[in-house]
Amino acid sequence: MKKVTAIYPGSFDPPTNGHLDLIERGSKIFDQLVVAILRNPEKAPLFSLPERLLMLEAMTENFKNVRVDTFDGLTVDYAVKIKAHAVLRGIRAISDYEYELQMALMNRKLQPDLETVFMMPAEQYSYLSSRLVREVAQLGGSVKDLVPAMVEQRLRDKLDPAIKLGHAEEPKTRKRV
Ligand code: PNS
Repeated sequence: MKKVTAIYPGSFDPPTNGHLDLIERGSKIFDQLVVAILRNPEKAPLFSLPERLLMLEAMTENFKNVRVDTFDGLTVDYAVKIKAHAVLRGIRAISDYEYELQMALMNRKLQPDLETVFMMPAEQYSYLSSRLVREVAQLGGSVKDLVPAMVEQRLRDKLDPAIKLGHAEEPKTRKRV
C-alpha cells in the first residue's frame, strides 16, 4: 500500500505547543511527517537554525513517524525532493485563512500534484503564535503553557543575558548625558 508522506513547513521561531499539537494530529493521519524548518536568509531569527532543529527534535522524539529537517528555497521543491505528497498547515482563525489560501493555491500552481492539508490546533492554542511568544518573552512575561518547558528555558537563557546587559549599560548611558 502507498505510504503518505507530508511536510509541515514553517519558521518555528520558536516552536510552540500549538505546533506540537498540530504535529501530533498530523502524525496520526500521515504515515510519515517531516517537520521542515525554513532557512530564511531574509529574516533575522531569535533562534538559530541548529537551535530550532534541536528543540523540535526533542519535542518530537516520541513520535516514531516524525522527523525534523531544514530546507531553503521553495517549499514545493523541497516536497518533491523528499517525495512528499502533502503539505500540512495549521489554521487557527479566519484571519489565517486568506494567507494560507494564497500559499496553498500558489503551491498548487507550482506543483499541481502536491496537496495542502489544513488542520485546526486545539482551541486553547488558537491565539498562539511564535511572534507573540517572542514578544511576551522579550518583555518579561510568562510563556508557561504556551511552549514546552525546554523552549521556555531556552527563551530565558537567551533573553536573560540581554536584559542583564541592558541594565549593565544603563549607568554608562546616563553619565554621558
Ligand atoms: O511559520 P511560517 O513563517 O508561517 O511559515 C511560512 C512558510 C515557511 C511555510 C512559507 O514562508 C514558505 O513556504 N516559504 C518557502 C518559500 C516558498 O515556497 N514561497 C512560496 C510560498 S507560496
